[in-house]
Amino acid sequence: MDKQITIAAMSGSLRKGSYNTMLLHALPALLPDGMSLEMTSIADLPLYNADLDTPAVAKRPEAVQAFRDVLTKTDAVLFVSPEYNYSIPGGLKNAIDWASRGEDSPLLHKPVSLMGVTPYMWGTVRMQLAFHPVFQFLNMKPVYKPEILIAQAQSKFDENGKLTDAATIDIVKRHLQVFKDLIIKQNK
Ligand SMILES: Cc1cc2nc3c(=O)[nH]c(=O)nc-3n(C[C@H](O)[C@H](O)[C@H](O)COP(=O)(O)O)c2cc1C
Repeated sequence: MDKQITIAAMSGSLRKGSYNTMLLHALPALLPDGMSLEMTSIADLPLYNADLDTPAVAKRPEAVQAFRDVLTKTDAVLFVSPEYNYSIPGGLKNAIDWASRGEDSPLLHKPVSLMGVTPYMWGTVRMQLAFHPVFQFLNMKPVYKPEILIAQAQSKFDENGKLTDAATIDIVKRHLQVFKDLIIKQNK
């Protein structure tokens, strides 16, 4: 696979000072050569409604179609997400539900990277575990290791939101290299 690999990338947090969005914004500088991110957002998606998700009957809402189009034209997906109540934040799950239906679902069989940041101790591990049945149902190909479980976020970013922790930078770089290898293997 010689062409540039493109990844649809999004944050599961909408708040302005989000640690997860800080990590998302740090990623372009940490990517291996030949890979780029297409940033997309879940902020404008309506709540999932199957009555609006039946192309034969009704057109999908514009924001949904635009979101699906970004996923369709990219080679893989990357989520950076907080853990809410030991699980996937509702807004991100809603976005995945919108992208998951139909034979033309742009998530089916896609390589996927998942990262999470929390100010607390457990590094979003329970959110990440909650994702695995979703990946399984959609036949997605996750990067399993190294896992990106970032705890105690306040010590990993500076006051300008820049990722400064050397060990975190190193493991994220290694994860992204494994992600690249997985995408290349998948596309052979
Ligand atoms: C509704 C809600 C539920 C939360 N549940 C968890 C949780 O289960 N585990 C955890 O580590 N933090 C939890 N938190 C705290 C978040 O980790 C913290 O707010 C974090 O900064 C959110 O990510 P962000 O900075 O990217 O917005 C929760 C926060 C909210 C708003």
